[in-house]
Amino acid sequence: MRVLLLGSGGREHALAWKMAKSSILEELFIAPGNAGTGQHGTNVDLSPENFDAIRAFVIENNIDTVVVGPEAPLVKGIADYFAKDETLSKVGVIGPNQKAAQLEGSKDFAKEFMKRHNIPTAKYATFTKDTLQDGYAFLESMKAPYVLKADGLAAGKGVLILDKLSNAKKELKSMLAGAKFGDASSRVVIEQFLSGMELSCFVLTDGNAYKILPEAKDYKRIGEGDTGLNTGGMGAVSPVPFANPTFLDKVENQVIIPTIKGLKKDGISYKGFIFFGLINVRNEPYVIEYNCRMGDPETEVVIPRLRSDILDLFEGVVTETLSERDVQFDERSASTVMMVSGGYPGSYDKGKQIYGLNAVSDSIVFHAGTQADGPAVLTSGGRVLAATSLGRNLEAALKTSYDSLSKIEFEGAYYRKDIGQDVL
Ligand code: AMP
Ligand code: GLY
Repeated sequence: MRVLLLGSGGREHALAWKMAKSSILEELFIAPGNAGTGQHGTNVDLSPENFDAIRAFVIENNIDTVVVGPEAPLVKGIADYFAKDETLSKVGVIGPNQKAAQLEGSKDFAKEFMKRHNIPTAKYATFTKDTLQDGYAFLESMKAPYVLKADGLAAGKGVLILDKLSNAKKELKSMLAGAKFGDASSRVVIEQFLSGMELSCFVLTDGNAYKILPEAKDYKRIGEGDTGLNTGGMGAVSPVPFANPTFLDKVENQVIIPTIKGLKKDGISYKGFIFFGLINVRNEPYVIEYNCRMGDPETEVVIPRLRSDILDLFEGVVTETLSERDVQFDERSASTVMMVSGGYPGSYDKGKQIYGLNAVSDSIVFHAGTQADGPAVLTSGGRVLAATSLGRNLEAALKTSYDSLSKIEFEGAYYRKDIGQDVL
């Protein structure tokens, strides 16, 4: 296969690392990639959202499969762009079309979908600036805390959880009438607050068959003990101890199967990964959100636990023969801990030299925000790198990740010391 992978984070490094192990890979390009993906293929300086430039590159380099890492190109319709183009329509795209990507691109769409197909999720209602007064009344009918969600993509910042009714009303107004999140908050979903442990589940589907990947738990807050601001994710573990076989059976029967069937019933063809953000409420799974791509940093623990050839699975997705493909997992536990730039998720410096990468031998260091500068590797983002380890249990995997991170340094480097502690 001749593959173009779109994206530049830790997720993409993990996917590139895995694809590079495939016996059917001929050549791998990553756009734009990072210093880590450059170890497994050729980085090309293209934006994942510049479809015309991607088209030219795909044709010139005889690419047969495009793997889309992040959500933005999917929500913008990259799969449709390929399907409609005479020359590109034979190229396989791993990632759903624009309609299907609405599961992530519009909270209101996702909630309507779940309601229609009886998929467990928090009760909700959606408001616009014309129905602001109804929104206030709805808030008054609910109990604290109040959950407000911008309908569209808001770079992970569009969800507000507020304790006071007066604040909730103020924020609702600022989202709807004040365009707090721009167009993304022209509609706002208000939903019931659910309390429980969160986890992420993943499937790969060709629209008919699906393969369930290992579940994972990520750590979103910057501070230890889940305090401070939300980040893209500070670490992850897989498996998730509280997700026992009974619970995972419920996830499959109450969430995954109704989702796959619901998409078919709605005439939506879905080829790619579905990410289920779930919450365990008294041993019942509820969907908090869908994403139309893999998670980051969850990919950095899920993909290393996949034993099978990932390109064989991708071929199964493209040719709609996923049911015939075999999928095997590593029984060991995996952990990943993110090392981030000082100041992140606020403002931070870039261009700091990273030392000690070659001293790590027991973990896989997945690069996120890095850039090669000759033989040196420099920081180029908030989340810089993730140390992934496999172990006979989570404690062992985590110990290895922390030992590895202690060998790496750059000015201002920070990481959470408590990843996985809450589930051990
Ligand atoms: P989302 O972008 O929808 O994943 O929401 C971001 C985070 O807000 C989730 O990971 C949860 O921690 C929290 N959250 C979202 N919806 C709810 C809810 N209905 N009840 C409790 N927490 C929620
Ligand atoms: N780790 C959460 C996400 O990828 O959205």
